[in-house]
Amino acid sequence: MFVCLCKGVSDRQLKQAVTDGANSWREVRIETECATQCGKCACMAKAIVDDALAQK
Ligand code: FES
Repeated sequence: MFVCLCKGVSDRQLKQAVTDGANSWREVRIETECATQCGKCACMAKAIVDDALAQK
C-alpha cells in the first residue's frame, strides 16, 4: 500500500528501510524521501516506522 503518494513510497519500503538499518523516522525519511513533499503522509508514515522500530 502506498503511504506517500508524492514520492511513491509504500509501507513495505518503510519497513524495509528499518530492516536495512535505519534507526529513526528521520533516517527512514532521508533514505526513502517519504514525507519530503506535501507532508500529508508524515503522521501515518511515522506510525508505521515507529511500529517497525519497536519490533526490532
Ligand atoms: Fe508524502 Fe506528499 S504524500 S509527501
